[in-house]
Amino acid sequence: MGYDPYNTFGVTIDQALIVSIVRAMARDGMRAAGYHYIILDDGWQGPRTPAGQITADPRRFPCGMTRLTAFIHAMGFDVGIYTTPAARSCSGRTGSAGHVRTDARTFADWGVDYLKLDWCGADYSPAGAAAIARTWRTALAATHRRMILSINAGGSPSVGPWARTIATSWRVGGDICGSWYNQTQPPSATARRCYDRVYHEGIFDYLTYPGVRAQAALAGPGHYIDPDMLEVGTAGESAAGHDLPTPALDPAEAMTNFAIWAMWSAPLIAGNDPRTMGAGEIRNILLNRDIIGIDQDPLGRPATLVLSQGGWQVWRKPLPGGRAALAIVNLAGQSATATFAWSQVGTSARPASISDAWSRRPVPPGASLRVRLGAHATAVYLLGG
Ligand code: GLA
Repeated sequence: MGYDPYNTFGVTIDQALIVSIVRAMARDGMRAAGYHYIILDDGWQGPRTPAGQITADPRRFPCGMTRLTAFIHAMGFDVGIYTTPAARSCSGRTGSAGHVRTDARTFADWGVDYLKLDWCGADYSPAGAAAIARTWRTALAATHRRMILSINAGGSPSVGPWARTIATSWRVGGDICGSWYNQTQPPSATARRCYDRVYHEGIFDYLTYPGVRAQAALAGPGHYIDPDMLEVGTAGESAAGHDLPTPALDPAEAMTNFAIWAMWSAPLIAGNDPRTMGAGEIRNILLNRDIIGIDQDPLGRPATLVLSQGGWQVWRKPLPGGRAALAIVNLAGQSATATFAWSQVGTSARPASISDAWSRRPVPPGASLRVRLGAHATAVYLLGG
């Protein structure tokens, strides 16, 4: 769990922004809820010194990286940083090509705990990408600082089989967009920061494809599929300065984004502006203890799709002690009601107990499960016994 500014701020980040976000996250309970990695995504990099050492952009990070990471640690967080194996990052900033060992050493000296290794311009072939990731793993190990590796070698199904042994998480799709879908206006081809909507022909759809499901089956404790960072509370696709005609996620869609990522045991990397989150529904979503608990359970097994029909999806995730979580999604564009037999949702008998994860209240177990949901909303139940 953590925070990454990219979905709201793009690559326009600086020291003052990061400091104010860290303060807000500490003050408003995000740290206490578990969001502990503060990830400095693309945009932090400056030039290399004549000796080849990477530096932070001196205009954006005037106090330097060592002081910023010390501040982040002192506030009780861990530090993530972005780089790429190519000469240039996705936004054209300094990359790590030819400097893997030096950069791993520099990140360790800065106190980095998490490396986001992106791939723009690097070798995406299965053998080439795996070799790059292994080189990084070895370089990180040589620093003797524990750093987890989060890789984005493209979303292809060929990544999972090698990535699970090298990385803590690997991306299974393209860059997420802060919208559900837009049937009437196709996405503009210009100035995109993202390619994959949350649901329609996007990340949510991918996880139903056999190739991506096969990658999900590889996940477990210490290695997780990454459907990209959360769009809960972001301003949508226009957030990073692009004027696409698609709306941000509405509250029901934001709940679905959060719930389904948790059902997939995916990294929960918030991407909103925590400074303006306030005490309302976005905070209630991001800080929901039951949904976070589903995400963080020790089994770490992504949910399987047990039913998909008539505009409904039912996902089921095993939890320790014979318990399970059930997420029921109304994909329709209007409210709908449905009744599911327990056998339809992967349970042979009525569970001993049920609680609604959103309200954190018990639900009397009935002979079947009846739900009424608004458009694009998701109900989440914890089933006991
Ligand atoms: C790629 C990644 C994003 C983000 C940007 C930064 O597109 O997939 O998550 O890191 O690069 O430029």
